[in-house]
Amino acid sequence: MHWPAEAIWEQVAPWLPGFTVEVLPQVDSTNSELMRRARAGSLDPILLVAEQQTAGRGRLGRSWQSDTGGSLTFSLGLSLAPRDWSGLSLAVGLAAAEALHSQVRLKWPNDLWVGDRKLGGILVETAGVAGSPSRTAVVGIGLNLARPPADGLSTAPAGLNELLPGLDRGQVLLRLAAPVLATLRRFEEEGFSPFVEGFRRRDALAGRQVRLSDGTTGTAAAIGEDGALLVHTAAGLVAVGSADVSVRPA
Ligand code: BTN
Repeated sequence: MHWPAEAIWEQVAPWLPGFTVEVLPQVDSTNSELMRRARAGSLDPILLVAEQQTAGRGRLGRSWQSDTGGSLTFSLGLSLAPRDWSGLSLAVGLAAAEALHSQVRLKWPNDLWVGDRKLGGILVETAGVAGSPSRTAVVGIGLNLARPPADGLSTAPAGLNELLPGLDRGQVLLRLAAPVLATLRRFEEEGFSPFVEGFRRRDALAGRQVRLSDGTTGTAAAIGEDGALLVHTAAGLVAVGSADVSVRPA
């Protein structure tokens, strides 16, 4: 397997000093590894790719299973000091969707969907930097290249090779890494507002019946300016923050 580490480094290093690319044959989770490094004080911007994860993690404490070869798993680590963190994970999802294909849609907050099937997921975590207003953002992306078996998955899976046949993991990473990092930098400067319209154009939930994880049902409206999911419910319009619910079409 050829990983285009040098090509990615050449695209990114000129505007992100100290940037490195690292490929590991195996790790528990690229997010866990970068969070450990961030907490230990290692702060240089990094792309960490794993050929295989043994304990991949998803949002809300779920696990992320991926089959070696059939999926791409990586994390980006970068110190950021935005005025407001709201919407960061949505902006990352949008950057990934735009870098991949016009048919990739966003299922709030940041799953990548093809039709109503899940192509990939994003896990954003942050670690504090002692004595600094910055935090290290660790942005993990897991993407199916081949469509995995649906067994045991709550949402039917999709594979990128349905849209882009023949692309290997390295080529997909090359498409994603620089645009996602550039989005993180832009978000730090400008917040979520430059990304609102782009998200709304790819929003897979707008106008759909949804069920929140607390059992509330309603109709999803467009996302708010801060990235909250707005839902018309029997009790009125509710703004849902990204951390506390999962949403699926009812
Ligand atoms: C989700 O769908 O809930 C998010 C899935 C995120 C998976 C990626 S794979 C690379 C990185 N390392 C992890 O352990 N998780 C993220």
